[in-house]
Amino acid sequence: MSLDITGTSAWQELRAHYDLVAPTHLRELFADDPERGRELTLTAGDLYIDYSKHRVSRETMRLLVELARAAGVEERRDAMLRGEHVNSSEDRAALHTALRLPADAQLTVDGQDVVADVHAVLARMGEFTDRLRSGDWRGATGERITTVVNIGIGGSDLGPVMAYRALRHYADAGIAARFVSNIDPADLVSKLAGLDPATTLFIVASKTFSTLETLTNATAARRWLTAALGEDAVAKHFVAVSTHEQRVADFGIDTANMFEFWDWVGGRYSVDSAIGLSLMAVVGREAFGEFLTGFHTIDLHFAEAPLERNAPALLGLIGVWYSSFFDADSRAVLPYSNDLGRFAAYLQQLTMESNGKSVRCDGSPVSTPTGEIFWGEPGTNGQHAFYQLLHQGTRLSPADFIGFAEPTDDLPTRDGTGSMHDILMSNLFAQTKVLAFGKTAEEIAAEGTAPELVPHKVMPGNRPSTTILAPKVTPSVLGQLIALYEHQVFVEGVVFGIDSFDQWGVELGKTQALELEPLLTDAQAPAPQADSSTDTLVRWYRGRRGR
Ligand code: F6P
Repeated sequence: MSLDITGTSAWQELRAHYDLVAPTHLRELFADDPERGRELTLTAGDLYIDYSKHRVSRETMRLLVELARAAGVEERRDAMLRGEHVNSSEDRAALHTALRLPADAQLTVDGQDVVADVHAVLARMGEFTDRLRSGDWRGATGERITTVVNIGIGGSDLGPVMAYRALRHYADAGIAARFVSNIDPADLVSKLAGLDPATTLFIVASKTFSTLETLTNATAARRWLTAALGEDAVAKHFVAVSTHEQRVADFGIDTANMFEFWDWVGGRYSVDSAIGLSLMAVVGREAFGEFLTGFHTIDLHFAEAPLERNAPALLGLIGVWYSSFFDADSRAVLPYSNDLGRFAAYLQQLTMESNGKSVRCDGSPVSTPTGEIFWGEPGTNGQHAFYQLLHQGTRLSPADFIGFAEPTDDLPTRDGTGSMHDILMSNLFAQTKVLAFGKTAEEIAAEGTAPELVPHKVMPGNRPSTTILAPKVTPSVLGQLIALYEHQVFVEGVVFGIDSFDQWGVELGKTQALELEPLLTDAQAPAPQADSSTDTLVRWYRGRRGR
């Protein structure tokens, strides 16, 4: 029987406490507690996290920690890390943390030494990518591979795409990557443009090796390759990453060129498994190892830090605070790093596929909102697009600002004396300040503003944000950031009482697309018989396609 968190005394206390905190402006919270900017902060690995600009008092945080204890966050965390089947609807472990355990760690799950398994695959990935990077592995015509094309979707795409862009400075072997995911043929066609089959290697990445998009794109890519180089070229130009050996063999990829992972790795938690092969090919096994170390650093912090100082736990609880008590629907993720341009998209799958659920583990309906809507773009671009709504709109959208001490690139300012990176970071600090403290009507009027314009210029403030600072976008820091969010998702899921590791909600659309497809493509197919809207849309499409 799943716990209804709203029935606990911890929840009731928070409900009563909300009535005290909600009317209090962040200006008052800072005035009443001048140390909060120094003390409502956390350190986890290389990450410095300031959560003082949230609409919380120290008492709020105490009550949120009490809530986490009432929900059993610590027990569930430990169960997850031990490899218990916390993914209850699929009766599986959710053991992505094992992917980054050091080789001398010990963890046996369901009778299997998972650390040995993980490191055996990492070693094979390392050997393979060493050969690619050194030019020892050559294509069918004897040429070096210069481009790897990862074909995958969802968790088999978003992580490598995001990390490839983030770690572009670590591409050190003359290998570039491209990523194909969409069933829209425009994706494959545009990504193959300009590539030479002789120097291209395809990585077909699919946990299940049954995903329509991936198998369709992989088949089309294979035709492209064999049209140029013949059937025999496949062995040198196609490798696979999957949990499903038989399906890889059936597709025609030599299973000697398959890199394995396991059903206890969820797709959206798999960038640090063999799904990261394209990334390893580009940045090398050492950098990939540092990426894993970064994850592990935060795993240790999550496992060991008391909840009161536990960064993923507190940030997850703050997420619950806004979504359940302030009715905030969304959280903006705003990296002040162009290299993290796909980080929000990556987090959308991680967070929303995990916690977009309506029933608890026992099937009973949830009694709280679940699944914050994650969205965002890098600063400063977002400032010139949607920040207006963050500053003066009627909706509350807490935001995570992410910034770095050291730039990955820097250039002088216009007068040649300063650093563009400093301007970038001054924008980050200014935005969080303005969001929190705003500018009052009195302050604006005192500047001589025409009275009729004053209301338009008032900056209400009281808009919450977390600031996450790190030394630089390195493989380790990137791993730390991802793990920070992975564990927040878990903490929120435990409080909601849901299974954060299944994704049943994506299945029906897949099967209905398969049912509808013949109606679109076969001129002899009977007229569609769905609802009147879908029927009419399908007829419209068939008409335009001359069927
Ligand atoms: O449709 C959702 C999903 O199952 C994701 O959870 C997963 O990451 C993606 O599809 C791709 O799945 P696969 O790796 O099995 O091709």
